[in-house]
Amino acid sequence: MPRITFEGKTYECHDGETVLDCMTRHGVLIPSSCQSGACQTCMIRALEGTPPAESQSGLKDTLIAQNYFLACICRPKEDLTIGLTGVSPRYTSEVLEKSLLNEQVVRLRLSVPEGFAYRAGQFINFVRPEDELTRSYSLASLPSEPFLELHVKRVPEGQMSGWIFDVLGQGDRVDFYGPAGDCFYIPGNPEQPILLAGTGTGLAPLYGIARDLLAHGHTGDVHLFHASLALPGLYMVEELRVLAREHAAFHYYPCVLHGEVPEGGLQGNISELPARVLGSMTGYRAFLCGDPAIVNTLRQQCFLAGISMQHIHSDPFVFTPSAA
Ligand SMILES: Cc1cc2nc3c(=O)[nH]c(=O)nc-3n(C[C@H](O)[C@H](O)[C@H](O)COP(=O)(O)OP(=O)(O)OC[C@H]3O[C@@H](n4cnc5c(N)ncnc54)[C@H](O)[C@@H]3O)c2cc1C
Ligand code: FES
Repeated sequence: MPRITFEGKTYECHDGETVLDCMTRHGVLIPSSCQSGACQTCMIRALEGTPPAESQSGLKDTLIAQNYFLACICRPKEDLTIGLTGVSPRYTSEVLEKSLLNEQVVRLRLSVPEGFAYRAGQFINFVRPEDELTRSYSLASLPSEPFLELHVKRVPEGQMSGWIFDVLGQGDRVDFYGPAGDCFYIPGNPEQPILLAGTGTGLAPLYGIARDLLAHGHTGDVHLFHASLALPGLYMVEELRVLAREHAAFHYYPCVLHGEVPEGGLQGNISELPARVLGSMTGYRAFLCGDPAIVNTLRQQCFLAGISMQHIHSDPFVFTPSAA
């Protein structure tokens, strides 16, 4: 059985056990969130030994070269000595504003800590002060704005989202790591048509990306499909209609699966709606965010409609499945 050495102590890893689970079992805290290799909260470094290649999937070459890996998906094949120094700096921020966007989604505006730089559409790993519980939230703001904006959906029994809704208040101080993620607009090819599609708070990164590319002078058509099960689940409908009125190339489609359809909106399965409305999407660039299963189906549909895989960027909001 492989052994993990940390700060001079050695721990035995069970067969098939991840480094994260092994260290947690021994009472060593490694910050984690999604526990499935998506959010990079648990990134640590092998000081001796080689982590398996699959535990480095999605990491930049420069990090791989320094032996960084994701503890939650690392099932070691050999002994490792690890260091917990992450690569993302930790920042402290103040809650400037907290307001409801609909009954289940709250908007937080945080002060921008000195030295924090990000691209619209990236996410941060937000830390609850009392116990270091960490969860990822996408940035809806633009780097040029004087606040960081998050849209947080209340999840039933959700530890972090419940705390944000019920306890966190204006003036409170919170820490976060980041930024992380590569679902953002890279200027270039300004006439390329763009698809933005997502469900629920998947709108947060899409709202940032949409405004970012418009600010960069993108001239190609931009189609934003925002979906919810029913009308009350949509939010920022008016802001997005205003954006569409101000930019002739920006098209907004509020979508619902059932019930009343908003003005100018669509009814149906979000996975099928973009191809139904736009037809062939050959030559498009796509950004897909939100529910992991829907993002996955949308990826397949975009590919089938002609978008090359290298032009499909996605940010699935992966979460830790309940232990029950
Ligand atoms: C890259 C990334 C970006 C993200 N961005 C956002 C964002 O901008 N806005 C946002 O609201 N969330 C976002 N998330 C999801 C967020 O990180 C948390 O997973 C979510 O807020 C739930 O955390 P919690 O502590 O409240 O729930 P937990 O206490 O972790 O979970 C409580 C219960 O709910 C289940 N559960 C957790 N999340 C969900 C879910 N989404 N749907 C259904 N069941 C769930 C769990 O399995 C568990 O049974 C993002 C996730 C990732 C990986
Ligand atoms: S990548 Fe390991 S906790 Fe998210």
